[in-house]
Amino acid sequence: MKFHRELPNKTQLVQPKILYFGTPVILLSTLNEDGTTNITPMSSAWALGKRIILGLGENGHGLDNLQRFGECVINIPNPTLWSQVEALAPFTGSNPVPKQKMGVFQYEKDKFKAAGLTAVHSTQILPDRIAECPLQIEAKVIHIRMTGEEVSFGIIEVESVAIHAHEEIILDEYHIDPTRWSPIIYNFRHYFGLGDELGKTFRA
Ligand SMILES: Cc1cc2nc3c(=O)[nH]c(=O)nc-3n(C[C@H](O)[C@H](O)[C@H](O)COP(=O)(O)O)c2cc1C
Repeated sequence: MKFHRELPNKTQLVQPKILYFGTPVILLSTLNEDGTTNITPMSSAWALGKRIILGLGENGHGLDNLQRFGECVINIPNPTLWSQVEALAPFTGSNPVPKQKMGVFQYEKDKFKAAGLTAVHSTQILPDRIAECPLQIEAKVIHIRMTGEEVSFGIIEVESVAIHAHEEIILDEYHIDPTRWSPIIYNFRHYFGLGDELGKTFRA
């Protein structure tokens, strides 16, 4: 016999059209065929030690670029940059615009100019960094795996080779100051900053 008791929260089965439950926004720099840098706004990313996993749709120029040339910069903007992130949202670096993106996205070659961002050379790799982003992680591709049925995605594993941080958010060479650094959270397609600190883990 099952034991029934009053649950603290009632649930319903739902089928959200999007499942972006809140991850940091990233501006991914990749190398175009002509040696210029493309910027892809994205949020499907997480870190495991020096490895970072990125998720990119198959119709994006960012994935095309990474498949051809396996280097990127994971630029992480703070909340003051949200409108510049959004200025990049309607664009793709793919020309012609892929069929699946027609009518919604437009081709833009110079994403730095389109969003008023500043390109700065990387130290270990070819794609440029974005000067305005407080964290800029230069990385090399280790592995790309394609997944998905109706829509296909690339799951890209990269390894960081150099990490640049604005001086204002550095505690020391080995620590970022979490009270001065804050990402933008992409929360079901809306941008949020962080709220107040709740506490810290025992290892902090
Ligand atoms: C805040 C934000 C987050 C996004 N996250 C992702 C993502 O994680 N993966 C992805 O493939 N596309 C994501 N997109 C959509 C791409 O930015 C969009 O497809 C864009 O055209 C890609 O540019 P590209 O074709 O030049 O790479 C996101 C867009 C925005 C504005």
